[in-house]
Amino acid sequence: MLIRLIEEKIKLEKKMKDLTIVRVHENNFKDLTLMIKKLAKYLKQEPPEPKAFQRLKKDLLARNPQCEAYIENFKGKPVGCVIFYIAYASFLGKTTLFLEDLFVLKEKRVQGFGKNLFLFCVKKAKEKKCGRLDWRVLQRDQNTRNFYKKFGAKQVRDWSIYRLDEKTINAISKKKS
Ligand SMILES: CC(C)(COP(=O)(O)OP(=O)(O)OC[C@H]1O[C@@H](n2cnc3c(N)ncnc32)[C@H](O)[C@@H]1OP(=O)(O)O)[C@@H](O)C(=O)NCCC(=O)NCCS
Repeated sequence: MLIRLIEEKIKLEKKMKDLTIVRVHENNFKDLTLMIKKLAKYLKQEPPEPKAFQRLKKDLLARNPQCEAYIENFKGKPVGCVIFYIAYASFLGKTTLFLEDLFVLKEKRVQGFGKNLFLFCVKKAKEKKCGRLDWRVLQRDQNTRNFYKKFGAKQVRDWSIYRLDEKTINAISKKKS
């Protein structure tokens, strides 16, 4: 039993040496676009249009970026990505790290890559002194719910997500002016 545990630890340490998480920059932005397109497919949604990718790139690479994106590489090849931004929790008087996307390629799942990326986000939340780490999960996505349960994450009950899309924002703004 002890030998098996030691063997597993050595295997994990070896694997971690081949695992890197790098911030998205000019040269690896294409890896992020590929991941986002695959995530859209997984979510059964239309992928972002080219102009949305252009805006995302501009916002990520800006001097004061709107959000942060990272690519997880294993043996130099991309296996996953994460995108987050900083929001604010007034009732705490502290920032919230909001996890916008966390994704691992289908063929690379259940090998520890998602856990490594999520723990990276937890570390970032700690570094940035956030009072919360929040994210959304589709109601129907039991797999992802199971994944997050492993970390002791609790579903926020009694709250629903509301949204005004850009068209509605413009329509209301027109009426008011
Ligand atoms: C959710 C996701 C990121 C998990 O990544 P992953 O690399 O497969 O997860 P890991 O291999 O690191 O698993 C970590 C732990 O969760 C468990 N786990 C992973 N997927 C699971 C599943 N579908 N059901 C139950 N447990 C699961 C693993 O067994 C592991 O448990 P352990 O630590 O006890 O060994 C990945 O499945 C994914 O990209 N899904 C599609 C996109 C998505 O849903 N993103 C999240 C939206 S916020």
